[in-house]
Amino acid sequence: MRRIGILTSGGDAPGMNAAIRAAVRACAQNGVIPVGIHRGYNGLIHSDVVELDARSVNGITSRGGTMLYTARCEEFKTDAGLQMAVNACNYLGLNGIIAIGGDGTFRGAGKLSAAGINTICIPATIDNDIGCTHYSIGFDTAANTAIGAIDKLADTMQSHERTSIVEVMGHGAGHLALYVGIAVGATAILIPEKPFDFEQDVLEHIREGKYRNKHHHLIIVSEGVADTLAIAQRIRDELGLDTRATIIGHIQRGGSPTARDRVMATRMGHFAIEALLAGKTNQVVCYRNSQLVLTPIDEALQMKKSLDSYMYRVAKEVSI
Ligand code: F6P
Repeated sequence: MRRIGILTSGGDAPGMNAAIRAAVRACAQNGVIPVGIHRGYNGLIHSDVVELDARSVNGITSRGGTMLYTARCEEFKTDAGLQMAVNACNYLGLNGIIAIGGDGTFRGAGKLSAAGINTICIPATIDNDIGCTHYSIGFDTAANTAIGAIDKLADTMQSHERTSIVEVMGHGAGHLALYVGIAVGATAILIPEKPFDFEQDVLEHIREGKYRNKHHHLIIVSEGVADTLAIAQRIRDELGLDTRATIIGHIQRGGSPTARDRVMATRMGHFAIEALLAGKTNQVVCYRNSQLVLTPIDEALQMKKSLDSYMYRVAKEVSI
């Protein structure tokens, strides 16, 4: 293998840069030229690439975002787009591709692989909702960012004896909300995987808290589960509490990666290059049972991630 393309696609996640750096340096160690592809599959289709070397990724481990830019590419989903990407790989002399991102990124890599381009994927999304891996790059940083913001919020909520309703990201999955909710000691955590009864699980829970002398309450809402502003209004109307709604939003996607994300991303980037050089293709690097393993892309896309029900029970039982 002489040249390997590296791309980031879909939503960015803190730690992507560390994965790029590790992949680039692993290429350099093995006498392979790493080629950065800009804006995901978009850049591949249009041959928007840059040759990298060990020095061109200096100092990026501590930076959020992705130095290669990222995009979601509709054109690549068409047969013509795929053919353009394959042609570009041949023209650019790319013998393999490392694709860093989520499910959509994997689907694209699977198509490339079927068209004869060796591909290895690295899971990166703050949602941590990829079924084949226990961990996806970016989750820990996003959780810590949300926790930091909520801790600040808690100070003012406590001072004013207010109730806060905080929306965190998740893209239809409650892993981030549950993790953050436990870490900040939420009164209630509303996530898509666990149907809830608003009267019982929110209003009654707050009433019980008040009875136990709680003066401020914190409700965590996973995006898309309910209208955060409407929840704040309803609690105000029904319980007469002073409420504020906060949507943390894209702040969760940025910031310097935590140690966990830097180390995991570095391991995954290195592992992915070793896999490509060993002749593997059509695989996702997965973290399972404390080690990195490969899973075929098709199989990886079939795997569903279930929410940790024990964690949910713990969250509920300690929220009194
Ligand atoms: O998948 C990561 C994520 O941040 C989700 O949590 C969120 O639903 C989505 O991306 C937001 O996407 P966009 O950046 O396109 O607004």
